[in-house]
Amino acid sequence: MEERLVSANLMMEDHTVELSLRPRYLAEYIGQSQAKENLKVYIEAAKMRNEALDHVLLYGPPGLGKTTLSNIIANELGVNIRTTSGPAIERPGDLAAILTNLQENDVLFIDEIHRLNRSVEEVLYPAMEDFALDIIIGKGPSARSVRLDLPPFTLIGATTRAGLLSSPLRDRFGVVSRLEYYTVDELSFIVSRAADILQVQIMGEAAAEIGSRSRGTPRIANRLLKRVRDFAQVRGDGVITESLAMEAMRLIQVDPLGLDQIDHKLLEAIIKSFRGGPVGLDTIAAMIGEESQTIEDVYEPYLLQIGFLQRTPRGRMATDLAYRHLGFTPPSEAST
Ligand SMILES: Nc1ncnc2c1ncn2[C@@H]1O[C@H](COP(=O)(O)OP(=O)(O)OP(=O)(O)O)[C@@H](O)[C@H]1O
Ligand SMILES: [Mg+2]
Repeated sequence: MEERLVSANLMMEDHTVELSLRPRYLAEYIGQSQAKENLKVYIEAAKMRNEALDHVLLYGPPGLGKTTLSNIIANELGVNIRTTSGPAIERPGDLAAILTNLQENDVLFIDEIHRLNRSVEEVLYPAMEDFALDIIIGKGPSARSVRLDLPPFTLIGATTRAGLLSSPLRDRFGVVSRLEYYTVDELSFIVSRAADILQVQIMGEAAAEIGSRSRGTPRIANRLLKRVRDFAQVRGDGVITESLAMEAMRLIQVDPLGLDQIDHKLLEAIIKSFRGGPVGLDTIAAMIGEESQTIEDVYEPYLLQIGFLQRTPRGRMATDLAYRHLGFTPPSEAST
């Protein structure tokens, strides 16, 4: 299991606070205005007609608030939410059992929906389209298919890998929303709000400092806040000031852009050993002792996102921005 402090993936230490920090209403859900504004209208309309909301697909990187938003949708609709995940539904019968237990207009939340079994997916199609379940009774020549009505419901699917969804499944969602990375302002706001809930005093500049090191991701913002709070309690008087926040994050080795030691190691390897690249993924992997797949899935995305790395057909390249951030002179400026 991954242990990086700046990982966007859910870690053991997040469980205790995430529940209490999770916004419960749209009004408390910061940012993602595009997704939010649209959903607000659809939710209102569904409620006015007393119908189930259209099926919703939420996709985007980990830790941006897909699970949170799904719970909010159910809450705003005033219906129950039943939560499960792609890999948890092993057989078609498992899904049938879940579906027949839903009440009218309920939300069924399927996390990691890209990992649904094909045979399970096929049960989902008529359920989503016609609120019906086709079940086969009997075996061999006497087998016949019976159609069972289901209560109208809303399927909310969440995925970090929308590209892996089959198109028949994707096409059955009426609302498709992509969650975006958060701005520093939005993250500062999330940090301040979380500090309020955790009953710790934080200065505005400190919240901004934590926000700007959170890699666009609320989950990381909350995690950094928790660590910094520990320093404020042990080393300070409990108040999180800007200087305390900066010192704490220096000690836990999260730099001003949210990069940690592994990011530094990776970039330095490319800059020092390969003059900035291009260098193949496997070579980088061997140099820093990580698997290529891990680099591609976990380390690279943020570095690409902030323009520190470039992917070229011949391999990865460190950009001028990366050179300067690490205190090196970019080759373009050093040539003369
Ligand atoms: N818009 C938001 N406003 C305030 N806090 C948020 C927001 N979005 C997410 N958070 C916080 O970030 C935490 C992580 O969000 P969440 O679990 O919903 O992410 P996710 O997209 O489902 O991640 P994963 O892909 O790992 O399942 C939440 O517990 C919540 O505290
Ligand atoms: Mg989630």
